[in-house]
Parts: sequence; C-alpha cells; structure tokens
Amino acid sequence: MKDTLWSNGSDDGIDNAVLYFTSSLDTDRAMAFYDIMGSLAHVTMLRDRRIISYENAELILKGLRTILNDLRENELMVDIDLEDIHTNIEFILTDLIGPAGGELHTGRSRNDQVATDLRMYLRDAVLETAACVNGLIKKLVEIAQNTQTVIMPGLTHMQHAQPVTVAHHMLAHAFRFGRDADRLMDAFERINVCPLGAAALAGTSYPIDREQTAELLGFRGPTENSMDSVSDRDFAAETVFCLSMISIHLSSMAEELILWSTTEFGFAELDRKYTTGSSIMPQKRNPDVAELIRGRTGGVIGDLVSLMTMMKSLPLTYNRDLQEDKEPVMRSVNTVIQCLSMMSDIVSTVKFNRERMYDAALKGFLNATDLADYLVSKGIPFREAHGVVRSVIMYCIHEKRKLEDLTISEMKGFSELIEKDVFDILSIEGCVERRTSLGGTSTQSVDIQIFESLNKLMEREDRIRQESLLIDACWDKLS
Ligand code: ARG
Repeated sequence: MKDTLWSNGSDDGIDNAVLYFTSSLDTDRAMAFYDIMGSLAHVTMLRDRRIISYENAELILKGLRTILNDLRENELMVDIDLEDIHTNIEFILTDLIGPAGGELHTGRSRNDQVATDLRMYLRDAVLETAACVNGLIKKLVEIAQNTQTVIMPGLTHMQHAQPVTVAHHMLAHAFRFGRDADRLMDAFERINVCPLGAAALAGTSYPIDREQTAELLGFRGPTENSMDSVSDRDFAAETVFCLSMISIHLSSMAEELILWSTTEFGFAELDRKYTTGSSIMPQKRNPDVAELIRGRTGGVIGDLVSLMTMMKSLPLTYNRDLQEDKEPVMRSVNTVIQCLSMMSDIVSTVKFNRERMYDAALKGFLNATDLADYLVSKGIPFREAHGVVRSVIMYCIHEKRKLEDLTISEMKGFSELIEKDVFDILSIEGCVERRTSLGGTSTQSVDIQIFESLNKLMEREDRIRQESLLIDACWDKLS
C-alpha cells in the first residue's frame, strides 16, 4: 500500500493494481518542467497576497528551484507508485523542505494545475511545430526559386492536364503548409490563457490573484469561468486538429514523392540516405522514410478521434477521463515534429529528373486547352473551340501524332481559322508562360508567389520568436 495525496477511506488502503491502473506518470512526466513553473508562480502569488507566510513561501520556492535543477540535470527521481508528476513533485518537495511543503497546494487543485500544465506544454509544442513547418516551407521555396523553368505535366484525376513548373507545384505545397502554420498560431491564442486558480471547479475562498499567476506564467490572462477552466480541453483538440491537417499534407506529399520515384514516373530520385535496400532484391531502393511518413501520420488522425471521443460525453467539470488527453496530445505532437523534420531532409536532397518531366509534359496533349484558347482569340465561342480541338485530338490519337506535329493543311481541315501562328502557341514553354493570371504557373506569376511565401514566412518567424522570447523571459524570472 502506498501514500497518496488522498485517501479513499477504505480500511485496506489503496490497492497497488488500482494505483498502477490510475497512474498517468508515464505520460505526464513530460510536463514536469511546466508543473514546477506553475508551482513557482502559484507560491509567489500566495506569498505576495500573504496567504502563506513569507518564510514558508521562500522555503517552498527554494525547494522547487532545487527540484528544477535536478530535473535539468536529469536527476529527478520519480516514484512510479505515485499517481502522476504533480503528486511526485509535491512529495519530493515535502521530503526536501519538510511540512512547509504542504502549503504549496493552498488555493489550488490538481484539476486547475493539470489544465495549466497542459496549456504550457502545448504553447511550446505549438511554437516548435510551427517553426518546423516554417522550416519545411523555406526548403520548398528554395526549390521553387531554382525550378521556375523546369516543366512537368500538371495532373488532375492523376491524368495529364496542363503543363506546370516544378516551382509552381512546390509552392502549392508551401501554401498548404503556410495555412497549417497560421492555424497553429491561431490555436496558440486560445491555448494561451491561464486556468490556475479555478481550483477544483468552483474557485477558492483564499484571496488569490489570478491575474498575477497568469502574468508570471506568460499567459495573455486568466480564464473566465472556473467550471469551464477545469473541463476545457477544446484547445487540445484544436491543436491535434491542426496537427492532423499537417499530417494530411505531409502524407499527400510523401505519396507524390513515392510515385515520382517509381520507374514508371521517374520524375524524382530520393537521396540514398532516405531509402533502403531489400533483403532479397539487390537492385531495390525503397522510399521507406516517405512511406513511414505516410503511414505514421495516420496515427495523428487517430489521436484526434481518441481525444474527441474521450471528451464527447463528459459532463462538467473535471472527470478522470480527462487524464487520457495527454497520450494522444503528446504522441501526435512528437509524430508530427519528427515527420516534418524528416520531410524537410527528404525535400532538400531530392533530385528532379528534368528530362523525364519534360518528356512527360510533351505527352498527353497538355497544349489542347491552349489550342482552344487560340480559336477563341480568332473569334469563336470557347464551347465551339473545345469541340473542334476534341476532333483534332481524336485524329491525332488515331494517327499517333502530337498536335504540334500536324501540318497546317491538316489543321485547317478542322477549322479555317487556324493559321501558321498556331505553332507558336503549341509550344509547351508558351503554354506555361501564357498563364500569367494571379496564382498561375508562368514565371511572372510564380515570382509573386515566391515573394508572398517569403513575406509570410518572415512574419511568422517573427511572431514565433516573439512568443518564445516572452515565455523564456518568464521562465528566467521564475527559476
Ligand atoms: N492525474 C490527473 C490527470 O492527469 C490529475 C488530476 C487528478 N484530479 C483528480 N481530481 N483526481 O488528470
């Protein structure tokens, strides 16, 4: 039988099997640092409001700082028999400084404590993830800057559609990830409020100062309703949703890289570092890292579902089910950060096969829309032009020829409007460069997209840096 922070009133004490079953130490030890910071802020406030004596407060602060040092030196000994990291730290403190340690928990409950810790953990996790997303975007933009004239087939329904450039394609991914990073920073706003002082659910009769603890911990301010404060895990679900969106985008990108490095496509060659051989087929070069990104990111969506399912039928306020939030939250954070870093490495070493891409872009009548647009410029409605080009293409398929290989008299057989100048518009380079519309694939349009992505990247970098500095300044003051 073990000591706990509470007693269940049973004569037999608490069963060890029950203790193990109810423990969350395996996951919540990752919040040890935040728990100590939260306690440092709480005790400072208790001292300033004269809720506990100055001497005892100083004793507790000193003890907590010793524990912090041990944690930093990797010397914090936790007892797996104690329910969670919060209990462990309180026990270690009391061991260290004696009965004064018992005053730490005045005017607070583990319910507001755990919610505060998770918010602090997620604040950092979100900033770190957003920085990793930014890192990947930077790599994609760098590729874009070097591939503005590298033409490849653009696909819809996985079928040849219109020619685009590799730069345009990479930027499409960059803009997706840009939204993901912005979304994380939006979530940050809702994470960054402080539930400490909500106590168990109803607030407390001690004259606490919630504004002060919120400020000491770098939060925008305290939460408004104590019952909501201890129940709310919306911020966690929102973060895991953001992580799920990143996962979907990573998986989609991994899938493309896997396809592009097949013999059939041959568009890309992954660096050997990120591929593996086969134990039986000596020629193999398998894209395992990309495949694992595709595979592992699925688990993040699973984590979102776990978390939301855990939340869905909980009455207010704290219920023990809420303890189950940590695992999906932390696992998804770790998975996404690892996958982002791997993906950055893969894309910064991938080699594109320009010839293969160009040759592929010459197949499949990627210039068909441009021929229709040409006829429109000669005065017929687009729908009619579409029909004429359809017939030309049927003829080409039958003759096994490309549009640009037809003679002018063959062309004229389909429409008298076609003149010699048609050959200018059929070149694949022309098809790309004519798409000057905003967001299009021409060099001119892609230039604007590169400029925009770099601007947003820098703005985001600044914001992440500012928020991190603010948090670090609080830790410096408290520790
Ligand atoms: N280990 C618990 C958790 O992670 C701490 C809060 C426990 N509160 C309680 N009333 N039993 O949620």
